[in-house]
Parts: sequence; C-alpha cells; structure tokens
Amino acid sequence: RTARIIGAPTDYGANRRGVDMGPSAIRYAGLAAELRSAGIDVEDAGDLAVPLADERDPDAVEPSEGTAKFVREVEEVSTLLSDAVATALADDVTPVVLGGDHSVAIGSVGGSARDADVGVVWFDAHGDFNTPTTSPSGNVHGMPLAAVLGVGDFEGVEWANARGLKPENVALVGLRDLDDTERTVIRESAVTAYTMSDVDERGITDVVDEALTVAGDDTDGVHVSFDLDWLDPNEAPGVGTPVRGGASYREAHSALEQVATSGMLRSLELVEVNPILDQHNETAELATELAASALGKRIL
Ligand code: ARG
Ligand code: MN
Ligand code: MN
Ligand code: MN
Repeated sequence: RTARIIGAPTDYGANRRGVDMGPSAIRYAGLAAELRSAGIDVEDAGDLAVPLADERDPDAVEPSEGTAKFVREVEEVSTLLSDAVATALADDVTPVVLGGDHSVAIGSVGGSARDADVGVVWFDAHGDFNTPTTSPSGNVHGMPLAAVLGVGDFEGVEWANARGLKPENVALVGLRDLDDTERTVIRESAVTAYTMSDVDERGITDVVDEALTVAGDDTDGVHVSFDLDWLDPNEAPGVGTPVRGGASYREAHSALEQVATSGMLRSLELVEVNPILDQHNETAELATELAASALGKRIL
C-alpha cells in the first residue's frame, strides 16, 4: 500500500503551544524511512497552510463560558484537511495525518467519511466528547468526537459533521479522564466506550478486537484516531494533557498491529505530539514506530 503523509501543524484546539510542531518532530524522527523499511510506499503531501498564530484573534484567547476557542481557525484547518484526506482516498492512497492537536480529527474524519460509510476507533485517555456548552476549558481538542457526530451545539454544523459516520460505529479505547457532563453525554450516546479498566480486565487484544468489530460493522473501512496521550506518560511524555495509568509500549504496538491485521484501516492520524514538552523527541519517535505497526510492519 501507499501512505500519504499530510501534516496539520495546528495548535488552535489546545491551550498548550508547541503541538503545532508535531508534524516536524514526527518527520524528523524518521517517519518516511521507518515506513519504507517496513515495505510501505510513502508520499509526503507536506503541511497544510494553517492560519498563522500571529494572526490570532486576541479576543478569542480568553473566551467567555460556553464557547469554543479559535473556532474560526479550527473550521479553516478542518476544511483544508478534510479536502486533503478525501483527495488521498480518491487517489487510492492511505492518508496518514500528523497533528497538531486533536481538533484536526474534525477534518480527517470528515474527509474520510465524506463519500463512504466509515467507523472510527479512537485511542485516547480522554473522551473528546465535550461541546462548547459542556467544555470546562473551551479547547476544541476536547470536542472533536462530538463535533463530527453532530452532538449538542454541533448539530447541523456542516463543516464539523462527518457525513458517513454513525455513533454506532464509533469505539473509544482506553479512557481514563472524562469531565462530568462529558461522561453523561457519552453514556447517553450510541458510541461504545472502553476504559482502561476494561483493558485491565479483558486485555488489550480482546478490547481492540471488539472495537474493530464495532467500527467495521457494515462500513467501508475504519479511521483510526490515535492520541499519543493514550499511552502512559512514562512512554509518551511529549503531550499537552498527560494522564497517569495509560497503555504500555507493548499494548500500543499490539493494538495497532491488530488494526493492520484487520485489513480495515482506511485512514490514520497521530495527534497531540508536543516536541516542546518532549524528552529528546521520544514521543515523536514512538509515533513513527506506531504508524509503521498500524500500516502493517512485521518483524518476520
Ligand atoms: N476533557 C478536557 C477538555 O475538554 C481535556 C481534553 C484533552 N483532549 C485531547 N485531545 N488531548 O478540555
Ligand atoms: Mn484526544
Ligand atoms: Mn487525549
Ligand atoms: Mn528509536
């Protein structure tokens, strides 16, 4: 298969600067070489032209309650990214999106589900199911799943909603940090959510197997949204919102090897790598290794 790298160097969805340098850090860690040595053909589409930080609307920096920070910029990036992902799929290559904060998922899921029915497997410490009304932070990286599914304030918001995605085909894996209202909204939604306790009790293989079944049920393929904060901060220190008790290095590889083996992978994104908070770029290196596993790297 051919992978097309698409950089989305944006931090408008997060309150920690630096995650906009994620695509650079991941390329520097050797993503293209790692994929090629795993037998995957690689194209690099470069980075999206995201609005410059210096042009930030100063009024948007301290929003009032019930708003989404930088939502205009997030819309702009989402639209560009959605087009880039849809184009890659039309060209019959696998989009590999490099974030950027997790708000980029609005664009990548939107593009992946534009002309097809897709499922989503969402590896994350967080639910990312807030809306501008429920969000305690106003940061859009805590809202992308609600946005693509049209939950709450996002109902009928055309640039945010993913056409070919149903909540029945969404599986969240590895949750361990939810906000109060967010927890209720997830419970009431038709998405399937697995916490780290489920991983502890059932093992990663069983949980991921079921998550892929949920996402692949009557769909044309699966988008994998991989937030590096799914891993334990000891493995992945270079993230903006670390939470103790995450997936181990081996669990992460195993999960993504299962994704590859399933044959269902349609599009992939790796988000929330923040090189400013990282130690010697090791989180970006981890992202490159994990991308190779998801795309089918085998040892033997
Ligand atoms: N739940 C928190 C919020 O809404 C944290 C979200 C973190 N999301 C992420 N993609 N790292 O602000
Ligand atoms: Mn996330
Ligand atoms: Mn997260
Ligand atoms: Mn290495």
